[in-house]
Amino acid sequence: MWKPPERIRHEPPEPGWPTREEAESSLLFSPVRVGSATLAERTWVPAMVPWRATETGFVTPDNLAWYERFARGRPGALVVEATGIRDVPSGPLLRIGHDRFVPGLRELVAAVRRASGGRTRLFIQLIDFLSVRRRPEPARYFDRYLRLTDRHRQAVGGGDDREVRAALAALPPEELEAALTPRELEDLRYGYRERVTDLHLPQVRELPEVLPGLFADAAGRAAEAGFDGVELHYAHAYTMASFLSATNTRDDGWGGDLEGRVRLPLEVFRAVRRRVGADFPVGCRYLTQECIPGGSTVGDAEFFGLRFAAEGMDFLSLSRGGKFDDAQQPRVGHAVYPYTGRSGYECMPTAVSDRRGPFGRNVEPTTRVRQGVRDAGLDTPVVVAGGISGFRQAERLLESGAADIVGAARQSLADPDWFRKMRLGRGGEIRRCVYTNYCEGLDQMHKQVTCQLWDREGLDREGLDRVGEAGESIAMAVDGRRRLLAPPWSPAEEAGEETPETGGRGVR
Ligand SMILES: Cc1cc2nc3c(=O)[nH]c(=O)nc-3n(C[C@H](O)[C@H](O)[C@H](O)COP(=O)(O)O)c2cc1C
Ligand code: SF4
Repeated sequence: MWKPPERIRHEPPEPGWPTREEAESSLLFSPVRVGSATLAERTWVPAMVPWRATETGFVTPDNLAWYERFARGRPGALVVEATGIRDVPSGPLLRIGHDRFVPGLRELVAAVRRASGGRTRLFIQLIDFLSVRRRPEPARYFDRYLRLTDRHRQAVGGGDDREVRAALAALPPEELEAALTPRELEDLRYGYRERVTDLHLPQVRELPEVLPGLFADAAGRAAEAGFDGVELHYAHAYTMASFLSATNTRDDGWGGDLEGRVRLPLEVFRAVRRRVGADFPVGCRYLTQECIPGGSTVGDAEFFGLRFAAEGMDFLSLSRGGKFDDAQQPRVGHAVYPYTGRSGYECMPTAVSDRRGPFGRNVEPTTRVRQGVRDAGLDTPVVVAGGISGFRQAERLLESGAADIVGAARQSLADPDWFRKMRLGRGGEIRRCVYTNYCEGLDQMHKQVTCQLWDREGLDREGLDRVGEAGESIAMAVDGRRRLLAPPWSPAEEAGEETPETGGRGVR
């Protein structure tokens, strides 16, 4: 992953863990309304892909255990990983592109309800992505994938196709750069990747016609499975974010200026709303900044936020960066990963950083987006995420009006009980994320995601390698070397913990 050249190591900010009484009177642990749903507290676990579905996209027992584990920490909201809306193979990522996926998702909903005592509201992130292929062996690329044109023939002085391919493969890099188009060079060096601007491809040209229906069908299935709402994935490197992107130069009415770029995301939302009705929360996750040269700015995000809120979205969840455009070159046989460049760093910053550090880089731009929405008289709740792992930090950003809800992905992975520990005045027991991105490295390799800190407990001790302190067996990752789940924690004093279908108290 790209790291800022300054390489300054930062320690997480002083957490300021609250007493139970302080937590009870805090903003963080006060309820908030999200459309027709009420979150019991303003804590939110953003979507994280754990690589635990079947190869065919179904929910597995490992998925159930993963979400159950987060639910035991009883966050206000938990968002299920980016889940594919098409009925096409996409490896061990969850899918919702057909009715046959509904029963498994229904089980997942039931597992979360049970484990959170009904306290956590459960959303699912709906994603569409375009085709990305692995970086090819150069010999194979010239032999099989490159479509020969006159430009290629001229570059090597002619010959039959076999000769032209062989001559191109033998060119030194500078000559190859002149012989191939920039896009062909990218296909060779990074792997083939479709873009929303590839209007010569019928499946790309037709995205505006097909995506509203696909998202609406997926949202309908989410409602049928019992989820409390859906999050439309308009962030990072994927199809909908590419429509919003300043790099979307489509000239067919679905790109170009801000109105053209926001048109499809609004159409998708309208189709989803029509399908699920006004009582089913629908929001989106999108970017405050793309963090790439020529990418969308905070000003663009303010414009989009206003349009989404005015259209009736029930929440706006803001992330940043995470683009393909500046991703590092993958190894041969691997696919390009959108979190390896500078924009990827902005999305999931590590402890080794620049002067600003990794904690709360998205707060200032999120504040601007939220302020724009409020100035227009709209009260749509805004979720902020990115390097948040302390009580004081969270409370301050709620007090200052930066956001209405605090998202914490990696901190919740490091310790899924952390919100509950804070709420019960047991902050001292929290396992704090050290922001090394070991988890993100596993995601990049398409391996089961785990946290490096989990293995420091129990597994280090002789005789506990697969058996916990209470004699229970510990689930291990397929490589047999890592815990598959965070170590268990149960509060001795459950007494007095509400399990509210929260009503009025201080909701805004
Ligand atoms: C392993 C892993 C998987 C992720 N998967 C998703 C995802 O499916 N959808 C999404 O919008 N963001 C995803 N993210 C990004 C997080 O939701 C979050 O925006 C990011 O980690 C920054 O927040 P944090 O500093 O609290 O971790 C993922 C992050 C990690 C570490
Ligand atoms: S592996 Fe654990 S400690 Fe490291 S960044 Fe991920 S969640 Fe944080």
